[in-house]
Amino acid sequence: MASNVSELITYNAYLAGEWKESSSGETIAIKSPWLRQTIGNVQAVTREEVDAAIESAHAAQKEWAQKSLSERGTYLERWADELEKNAEEIARTVMQEVGKGYKDAKKEVVRTADLIRYTVQEALHMHGESLRGDGFPGGPQNKIGIVERVPLGVVLAISPFNYPVNLAASKIAPALMAGNGVIFKPATQGSVSGIKMIEALDKAGLPKGLLSLTTGRGSVIGDYLVEHKGIDMISFTGGSNTGHHLSQQSVMIPLVLELGGKDPAIVCEDADLDVAVKSIMNGAFSYSGQRCTAIKRVLVNEKVADRLVKKLKDAIEKLSVGSPEEDSTVVPLIDDKSADFVQSLIDDALAKNADLVIGNKRKDNLLYPTLLDHVTEDMDVAWIEPFGPVLPVIRVQSDEEAVEIANKSEFGLQASIFTQDVDRAFAIAKKVEAGTVQVNGRTERGPDHFPFLGVKSSGMGVQGIHHSLISMSRVKVTVLNLK
Ligand code: NAP
Ligand code: G3H
Repeated sequence: MASNVSELITYNAYLAGEWKESSSGETIAIKSPWLRQTIGNVQAVTREEVDAAIESAHAAQKEWAQKSLSERGTYLERWADELEKNAEEIARTVMQEVGKGYKDAKKEVVRTADLIRYTVQEALHMHGESLRGDGFPGGPQNKIGIVERVPLGVVLAISPFNYPVNLAASKIAPALMAGNGVIFKPATQGSVSGIKMIEALDKAGLPKGLLSLTTGRGSVIGDYLVEHKGIDMISFTGGSNTGHHLSQQSVMIPLVLELGGKDPAIVCEDADLDVAVKSIMNGAFSYSGQRCTAIKRVLVNEKVADRLVKKLKDAIEKLSVGSPEEDSTVVPLIDDKSADFVQSLIDDALAKNADLVIGNKRKDNLLYPTLLDHVTEDMDVAWIEPFGPVLPVIRVQSDEEAVEIANKSEFGLQASIFTQDVDRAFAIAKKVEAGTVQVNGRTERGPDHFPFLGVKSSGMGVQGIHHSLISMSRVKVTVLNLK
């Protein structure tokens, strides 16, 4: 596997079924977070190119919507096959572009092929319904309502950097299966991985024009895409600030937002601490904590806090730190700005007398895993999403206090509860404001057919294969009036 970049490719955008240079004449350099050098360039597409792409998507969608579900499924199955065939190459791109460990990058590609196949099967097995008209006293006996789901039109799929393949395909696959056209706007850092993924879809023979990939800075073409009259639905995954902004820009079209989190691990005094430590370590530090669902704070009962912190420290000492090529758990963050931001959270906590248990070491954008104990509510790290390898421990006196602090957060993506008492787990789970509560396990999105959602600033609407198909289609009722 090459660890340096031998040839610098300028990648074309995929506009209305053609790979093209942008008429802007501008490209954006993509710099690898761990090689710290440019690995390729992508096109900065223009507004006129966006207009043309959306127009083509509408034209192609009309025919696509007429195709049978099984025919649509055939294209997607071929896409999944192509992804698997090219899994090594795509994984290498993901590794270089977003600094994800090679094995995890490959898992992401294979997981995506599985997600696409499951999406096809789910769509094939979703049924409409028919209703009798006489549901009310004296209601009409001659009416039968036939309820189907129909496409929305053209879906705008905007994805983040951290799962450049999976989080894009989890929008594109259901959008296509539901009969829509797609405009795909990848994260700029993640565009090359997105391009490789769309090359696989192109090879699968997707009808020309149905999908376009518009690379370019969100700050430049983002608002234009979001406000475009030709967009009929937006599925967005990314930061909460961007999500808030989008929800103000988009008017009267369905919007699904999967945003940031500050997932707590609540550790009760009766928890199996080894189970808790294993899950917290994996949840907090894999891919350097650059997961929306990473465990981003520990709320531990004071009675077991010393033991838990000692076990976490021992486990952190064993973590591999370094290169994604060597599958290190902790890898360089996506860019220097992100590393500066995480460092500022650590500095703030230490200035306010948090205990540094281990870490606070840095080389450029590589931050060593950092454990902070005795974190208090006046510290930024107690509330702000770092998207990096820092774990604050907040000691609590009771389950009630843990729930109170968990819910004080503006976020509500997931939460983990560690206890050996299932009734206690359910009692806490009932009170925690989150889309999903995990009992004795790490916070995570998968398996991909589970509903996935955030509440409060963590999102709006529901993803997960079934729910994505629902959100990317609408109900249509045809009423049969019998004589
Ligand atoms: P981000 O900065 O919000 O970017 C996400 C996407 O939005 C990128 O494609 C970005 O394009 C685009 N964008 C930026 N400004 C835009 C605008 N005005 N209009 C339309 N699109 C715009 O997030 P990120 O740094 O890539 O990802 C990290 C964040 O995503 C974290 O907060 C994480 O928790 C969250 N996340 C959430 C989930 C979830 O499912 N809940 C999953 C993964 C990540 P550019 O790259 O060109 O700026
Ligand atoms: O970053 C957000 C992803 O949706 C997290 O997915 O829990 O499978 O790592 P994951």
